[in-house]
Amino acid sequence: MNIKPLYRINKFVLPLVLCLALFSCVSNNPNKGEEVKVYRVSDLAQIQPVAIDAIRASAATLSNALSTTIDTAGFKEAIAYCNLNANHLLNNISEEYGVTIKRTSSQLRNAANTPSDDEQLILDFYASQESLGKECVGEMSVVDGIYKYYQPIFVMDNCTKCHGIKGETLNKKASKKIAELYPNDQATGYEAGDVRGLWVVTFKK
Ligand code: HEC
Repeated sequence: MNIKPLYRINKFVLPLVLCLALFSCVSNNPNKGEEVKVYRVSDLAQIQPVAIDAIRASAATLSNALSTTIDTAGFKEAIAYCNLNANHLLNNISEEYGVTIKRTSSQLRNAANTPSDDEQLILDFYASQESLGKECVGEMSVVDGIYKYYQPIFVMDNCTKCHGIKGETLNKKASKKIAELYPNDQATGYEAGDVRGLWVVTFKK
């Protein structure tokens, strides 16, 4: 795999660039014949707003669907709703934008959201930023010649009902339903402000 940092939106350039450089060295590029991507500003200018817009649309869609289901049917049903519809809703928005939109995390609920190597690298980078008390912001890279945009997902108060601490913020009925549908769930124990995971927007080649 060939991962190249493309564009750093924040100012903490060094750790990730070092990380990515190390990664590229370890995994030397098997596709020697592949055209080397030239990083033009026009690409960035086109890609970044599309990614941010697609994420905004995705977050709004999931959040509206979730709050409507919670209001009308309750937390337990909202878990079942997410289980059936979250990735389906994201697929629809992906099609609309001509990209792939995904959510991933180091502590997964749904194994279908498992991070790829480059996504795990960004998750680890955000974890180190968090532990240093530094800001986590959008990142971009080129993976095997394909543009990817990553954005941290932060936990808000209302997320803790389904991702919070057992016996404290985690809703009891939700907890029971989660155990039933996701026996290997790791996505609890979060507090508001924590990084829950990533949005990943992958562009077509
Ligand atoms: C009603 C319960 C509920 C609430 C509230 C909720 N989630 Fe989730 N969350 C789920 C379920 C269920 C899944 C698994 C969805 C699936 O099967 O694709 C999930 C999956 C996720 C994932 C995908 C990664 C993974 O672990 O599979 C992220 C990221 C996430 N939630 C973040 C949030 C954030 C941020 C909030 C608050 C804005 C939130 N959730 C609120 C139930 C909830």
